[in-house]
Amino acid sequence: MRIIRTKDYEDMSARAADVIAAEVILKPDCVLGLATGSTPIGAYERLVERYRAGELDFSQVISYNLDEYRGLAHDDPQSYHYFMEQYLFSHVNIDPANTHVPDGANEDVEEATAGYDAQVAAAGYPDLQLLGIGNNGHIGFNEPDAAFSKGTYCVNLTESTIEANSRLFESADDVPRQAYTMGIGTIMRAKRVLVIANGEKKAQAVHDMIYGPITPSCPASVLQLHPDAIVIADEAALALCE
Ligand code: F6R
Repeated sequence: MRIIRTKDYEDMSARAADVIAAEVILKPDCVLGLATGSTPIGAYERLVERYRAGELDFSQVISYNLDEYRGLAHDDPQSYHYFMEQYLFSHVNIDPANTHVPDGANEDVEEATAGYDAQVAAAGYPDLQLLGIGNNGHIGFNEPDAAFSKGTYCVNLTESTIEANSRLFESADDVPRQAYTMGIGTIMRAKRVLVIANGEKKAQAVHDMIYGPITPSCPASVLQLHPDAIVIADEAALALCE
């Protein structure tokens, strides 16, 4: 794992945007694996700025998002479909037909998950997979478990994740209890993974991802086995990795 330490969130976001921008410049028809949540917002904002400055062209880029809440319509403001439109897709020249987010509105689990996996595989898996990390070490919505997951599947969210994500809903009761997520096996097939993390709440998970035992009880720890994993994290998130 390559670790890049940054001063703060702004610095982390700028460097993450640099890595993503480099991928788009070097391979205009690259497949990007994308994440939602608070962490990537700053990087997406910088990518939009660079697109507006004429530095980036997304016209041939293909994207696959990691996950989506099960049961939310695409235009639900809490959905990850909506998030991606809000922070990235509607601001750059990516072809909407080339953007993919698991279909949370499809309650048919088999259709929604197997179909998504087949699409990611047909696209050859992401050239670059962007990941945030949960306070409990989850990546995508792969929660701590007894075994690593394989392909895209339907997951029951843990209380810890429901609690952490409730800040974006009116109350914890409004947070969906299930999500569709790419599995660990799918994430590991990306050619390069880029994990971004900031803030002290992530310090334990970041430590365990980098230095802990490789165990499904900290799903991110599997990335120690990835041949090209980059972690860009601020000082607070790396506080336990001195
Ligand atoms: C989101 C995702 C999640 C988040 C993680 C961190 O698509 O896959 O694993 O990356 O929950 O969320 P934030 O960035 O909100 O702290």
